[in-house]
Amino acid sequence: MLAKKASYVVAVVGATGAVGQEMIFTLEQRNFPVSQLRCFASERSAGRMLEFKGGKVKVEPLTMDSFRGIDIALFSAGGDRSTQWAPVAAKSGCVVIDNSNAWRMDPEVPLVVPEVNPQDIKGHKGIIANPNCSTIQMVVVLKPIHDKARIKRVVVSTYQSVSGTGMKAMEELGNQTAEILNMKEPTISVYPRQIAFNLLPHIDVFLDNGYTREEMKMVNETRKIMGDDTIRLTVTTVRTPVFRCHSECLNIETERKLTPNEARALRGHGRPGQTRLPHAHRRGGQGRDLRRARARGREHRERAEHVDRRGQPPQGRGPQRGPDRREARGVRGVGRLPRRVMA
Ligand SMILES: NC(=O)c1ccc[n+]([C@@H]2O[C@H](COP(=O)([O-])OP(=O)(O)OC[C@H]3O[C@@H](n4cnc5c(N)ncnc54)[C@H](OP(=O)(O)O)[C@@H]3O)[C@@H](O)[C@H]2O)c1
Repeated sequence: MLAKKASYVVAVVGATGAVGQEMIFTLEQRNFPVSQLRCFASERSAGRMLEFKGGKVKVEPLTMDSFRGIDIALFSAGGDRSTQWAPVAAKSGCVVIDNSNAWRMDPEVPLVVPEVNPQDIKGHKGIIANPNCSTIQMVVVLKPIHDKARIKRVVVSTYQSVSGTGMKAMEELGNQTAEILNMKEPTISVYPRQIAFNLLPHIDVFLDNGYTREEMKMVNETRKIMGDDTIRLTVTTVRTPVFRCHSECLNIETERKLTPNEARALRGHGRPGQTRLPHAHRRGGQGRDLRRARARGREHRERAEHVDRRGQPPQGRGPQRGPDRREARGVRGVGRLPRRVMA
């Protein structure tokens, strides 16, 4: 159990990633009482300096001693890292809040959305999981409706941005957009198909039941968070060529009658998490992401070239041909746009 303090030593594991960067930004923006921030990532990023509250924090690789003296560790470095390192961190006495899918369905680990089931945090054993991004925003809407009218069935379709796949996916969208607008063949690396000017109607692998793993995460996690295994859900997840901001369309069937206006009122202003506009609504947000993605892409290519000169295989994403060139040809019209659209 975390002792109450005036301020905490906080670690971000995966600090250089898309989610890690947002965690650091949010700690700063909310003025969370941080006495010291520790940033961890892979060996590749060791020594990089990250900004926090006007200062710089050095990125460290993980070791068995990394978590000594840390109160709270926010993990966002992928499931394998969480499986390996979250128990090490918990054993060192810090509370892990894990953003990956490694511990979500473990019966010993609470799966928590603060606006929905904060009470489940009690009794944690050092690791608290948070759910998939699409589940989070859905259960915030479902919970008050379930409390009022009991939900029988939900049909949900998602429109998910590339930020959910990570920094490399954001770079890929930026680079492909630039390539296509410059009438070049798009370089395909993170996704199995071109993502710029396209929609990919499945996320993660297909399972035996015909749903994808992403879709089944939303089914299973929702039932665990809502504490009700009888809620029936059918989910379709789609990846969209948008840097940030997931959207969802829900069709909800309730046991007791609930008018649309009553449902809207339940979802209305004043509830935590329901009134703030998402990132994509910030003016210029997508342009900023495109610039950042292209800059990061350049940085990766330069690093890859540097390794090349030492005679080792390149680490970055070299030029690759897409598996389906018809998709590239399908956007030829975009290539006819005047070059100044890139200004
Ligand atoms: N719950 C949610 O809402 C939600 C949403 C999106 C993503 N996620 C999850 O969050 C995690 C990270 O996603 P992301 O989008 O931030 O990915 P990302 O942009 O690819 O970042 C991955 C981070 O993990 C670090 N990392 C990789 N290998 C490592 C290692 N061996 N040791 C230590 N650090 C290592 C990377 O460091 P380098 O820069 O050094 O490679 C980077 O900081 C994933 O598990 C993802 O599924 C959850």
